[in-house]
Amino acid sequence: MLFKLLIFALTASKINSARILCVMPLPFYSHQTTFQPIWKELSLRGHNVTTIVTDGINDETLTNLTEIVVKESHESLKRHNFLHKHAESGFFGFVQELEYFVEDLYNVQFGDQRVKSLMNDPNAKFDLVIFEAATYPMIYAWKFKCPSIGVLSMQAPIYYNDAMGNPTHPLVSPEFLLEIDDVDNMTLMEKVVSILTYIIGHIMRHQCFQMYDEINQKYFGDGIPRTEKLIKDMDMLFVVDSPIINNLRPVYPHTISLGSGLHIKPKKALSKDLKNYLDHTKKPVVYFSLGTIVKANLLNQTSKLAIYEAFSELPYKFLVKADWENVTVPENVKVAKWLPQQDILRHPNIKLFITQGGLQSLQEAVTNGIPLVGIPFFCDQYQNVQKIVKRGFAVKISRYQITKEAVKNAITEVLNNPKYKEKVKEMRDFMYDEPMTSLDKAIWWIEYVLRHKGAPLFKSKATKMPMYEYLMLDVIAAVLLFSIICSFCIWMLIQLVFRMVKFMLFGEKVVKLKKN
Ligand SMILES: *[C@@H]1O[C@H](CO)[C@@H](O)[C@H](O)[C@H]1NC(C)=O
Ligand SMILES: *[C@@H]1O[C@H](CO)[C@@H](O)[C@H](O)[C@H]1NC(C)=O
Ligand SMILES: *[C@@H]1O[C@H](CO)[C@@H](O)[C@H](O)[C@H]1NC(C)=O
Ligand SMILES: *[C@@H]1O[C@H](CO)[C@@H](O)[C@H](O)[C@H]1NC(C)=O
Ligand SMILES: *[C@@H]1O[C@H](CO)[C@@H](O)[C@H](O)[C@H]1NC(C)=O
Repeated sequence: MLFKLLIFALTASKINSARILCVMPLPFYSHQTTFQPIWKELSLRGHNVTTIVTDGINDETLTNLTEIVVKESHESLKRHNFLHKHAESGFFGFVQELEYFVEDLYNVQFGDQRVKSLMNDPNAKFDLVIFEAATYPMIYAWKFKCPSIGVLSMQAPIYYNDAMGNPTHPLVSPEFLLEIDDVDNMTLMEKVVSILTYIIGHIMRHQCFQMYDEINQKYFGDGIPRTEKLIKDMDMLFVVDSPIINNLRPVYPHTISLGSGLHIKPKKALSKDLKNYLDHTKKPVVYFSLGTIVKANLLNQTSKLAIYEAFSELPYKFLVKADWENVTVPENVKVAKWLPQQDILRHPNIKLFITQGGLQSLQEAVTNGIPLVGIPFFCDQYQNVQKIVKRGFAVKISRYQITKEAVKNAITEVLNNPKYKEKVKEMRDFMYDEPMTSLDKAIWWIEYVLRHKGAPLFKSKATKMPMYEYLMLDVIAAVLLFSIICSFCIWMLIQLVFRMVKFMLFGEKVVKLKKN
C-alpha cells in the first residue's frame, strides 16, 4: 500500500510539474492569443512553462511561466508580407514570398540571444514541446528528445495532415487556402485546380522541407535528421475548427479538434467613450473590422471611399476599426485604430459585423449571435465566408466588387431580414453544445501525452507508407500487368481454338478444293 502510494506520489508529482516548451513563431495576433489561455492554465496547474512567442501574456502573477517574446518577428512580416502577396498575385506569389518570410522569421528567432542560450544550455530539459503547426520548427522536440504536439488556430495545412496520416483527398477536403466558391458543389475548373494543387503540393514538399533542413544546419550544425522524417515523430495535432464555419475533414484520433471558444476572454468593461457611443442610440450599430492581419493597403482608395459613402447614406451608426488616410469620416461613423472587439460584440446594440472572415472573428460573432457581412481577402477566409453564407447567417461581398451599392445592399439585407439573426442564434446553440470546453480538452490531451510520453497507440499506418503505396499505384500496376498477360493468353488461346475448329471443319475441304 505504502509502495503504491509512493509510486502514485512520484508519478503524480511528475505530471504536476512537467517542463513544457511552447514555440509559436508566427507574428499573428490571433494565432498567438488563441493559445495563451493554455499556456496560462498549464502554468497555474504547476507545470514549468517556457514560451517562445511573438506576443506575450505579460502577467507577473504567473510565476511558473517564462516568456521569451521575440518582438523582432513582427519586422520580418513587415519585410515579407506573404499574405498580401496572396491577395495581390495569387497562390504562387504567395508561396514564393512565404519562403522568403519563413527564412527571415527563423533567422530572427534562432538569432535571438535568449533562444540561443536556451538551445545551447546543456542543463535545459523539457518533457514536452508544443509548437505552432504552420511552419516546421521540428528542431525543438528533436533537440530536447521529448514528445511534441502541434497546434494551430485554424485547420492544418496538407503536410501536417499527411504527417498524421489524415486523408487529404483533393475533392473531399480541398486545401483550405484555395478560393473555392462551394466546396460541396465544385465546378470542373475548381476540381482541376484542387487536384493540381494537391499534386504540386506533394512534389514541392521536398523543396519546402529542404529549406528548413538548411536553416537547421546553419544554426545547429550537422547531424540533424531531415525535417521530412522529424515531422512524423510528432505525437498529436490540435486544430481549431468548427463544423459551423469550416469544411469537415476525416482525421485520426490523435488530431484533436479543440472546437470553438478557446480564445474568448472574460468580459471587460468598455471605455467610457465607447460605452457612450454604443449605449445612447436607438439605431442599430454596425461594427466594421478587417482584423489584425489585413492591412489598409489591401483596399484601394476607391474602395474605402465607397465603403464610407455607403455608410453615410444608411440610417445606422458605424463603429470602424481602421487606419485609413485621406478619407473623410462621415458623421455617423466612429473610427479607431484599435478596438476591444470581443467586448464590443457583446454589446446589445451591435446588430451586424462586417469582417474579413477570419476564424476567430467569426467565432466571436456566432458566440454573441451577430449576423455578418464577409469580405474575404486571403487564406482560409474565402472558404470560411462561403460556408457561413451557405449556413444562412451572412452575406458576402467580393473584394473586387466593393461599390457603394454592393455595401449598402449587403448591410440592408442582413439588418432587415430577420432570418440571418435567427440562423446565427441557432448556430450558437450548436457551437457550445460540446462535452467539455476547448481549454479542458486541450489540457486533458496535453497531460495525456505527458503521462504516456507520447501517443504511440494512435500512429497511423499511412505515415509509414511510401507515396506510391498510399496511392495504390503498386497494386494497380500489378493488376494491370496481370490483366494484360491474361488477356494476351486468352487471345492466343481463342486464336488457337479458332484455327483448330477451322481446320477440323474445313481443313479437308480446303485441301480437296486445292487439289481440284
Ligand atoms: C507554480 O507551480 C507550483 C508547483 O510547481 C504550484 O504549487 C504553484 O501554485 C504554481 N504557482 C502559480 C502562480 O501558478
Ligand atoms: C523553469 O524553467 C526555466 C527555463 O527552463 C528554468 O530556468 C527554471 O529554473 C525552471 N523553474 C523551476 C522551478 O524548475
Ligand atoms: C451545384 O451548382 C450548380 C451550378 O451552379 C447548380 O445548378 C446546382 O443546383 C448545385 N447543386 C447543389 C447540390 O448545390
Ligand atoms: C495622403 O495624402 C498625403 C498628402 O497628400 C500623401 O502623402 C499620402 O501618401 C496619402 N496617403 C494615402 C494612403 O493615399
Ligand atoms: C480599386 O479596387 C477595386 C476592387 O478591387 C477595383 O475594381 C478598382 O479598379 C480599383 N481602383 C483603382 C483606382 O485601382
